[in-house]
Amino acid sequence: MAILGKKKTYDTEGLKVPVSLGVIMDGNGRWAKKRMLPRSAGHRAGAENLKELCRNCGNYGVKYLTVYAFSTENWARPEDEVHQLMELFVEFFEKYDPELEEEGIRVRFTGDIASLPENIREVCKRGEERSLHRNKMQLIVAFNYGGRRELEYATRLIAQKVKDGEINPEDITEDMISQNMYLPDVPDPELIIRPSGEMRLSNFLLWESAYSELWVSETLWPDFGYDELTKAFSDFARRDRRFGGLSKKDAK
Ligand code: IPE
Ligand code: IPE
Ligand code: MG
Repeated sequence: MAILGKKKTYDTEGLKVPVSLGVIMDGNGRWAKKRMLPRSAGHRAGAENLKELCRNCGNYGVKYLTVYAFSTENWARPEDEVHQLMELFVEFFEKYDPELEEEGIRVRFTGDIASLPENIREVCKRGEERSLHRNKMQLIVAFNYGGRRELEYATRLIAQKVKDGEINPEDITEDMISQNMYLPDVPDPELIIRPSGEMRLSNFLLWESAYSELWVSETLWPDFGYDELTKAFSDFARRDRRFGGLSKKDAK
């Protein structure tokens, strides 16, 4: 029984879906405003929708889903909103873990986790440990995440290796930088989806998104469902990904 939302049938035949997908879960505030509800109601609706996205992505065959849940810049919001977001985070992973278990979804966290309050770090640790055996899809939650913060982290690790005499500066390569990011085993996202219309990355996966396809939708995150995801995947499948080279049809 699928308990992550309603059961639907999936016609994925022939549709090339990304192995690694990033989603910037934006628009909770606007969703709430439209309904004359407090912003916290939007965040709650957004969290509910994450379950739906996980289920749909798992069924589509996505292997790594990275969702942007809280940025290193989101601390600039009013204290009570930040507090609500932290509480919701704890609640989500406590309450919904059995559903993620049922869907075979392994949970991991990326971001400056070490700087978060202890109760949040505990949730991350428990969530990761108890889901290690699940293998349908990895849900990677970017929490207190910033692309620049991640580059700062990687740079520091590499600088330490130079200082310790393990490597020389001229040994540093792009590949080495990738290997020193938070989760080096997670493939770079082939597609990044941003609901709510904003045409920017807002510090999401700066290094990893070098060749990601971008797909922006006007739909607000809490309303972003199966149909929108399918549209994004259909568009993605038609994109000509050249990586600086030539189209397959021109490169005889
Ligand atoms: C995304 O929704 C949630 C977080 C950034 C934590 P927003 O709260 O940014 O919603 P808008 O952009 O104000 O509509
Ligand atoms: C990006 O949304 C961060 C998350 C969705 C967690 P923001 O609402 O923080 O981004 P800006 O401020 O519009 O760039
Ligand atoms: Mg926003």
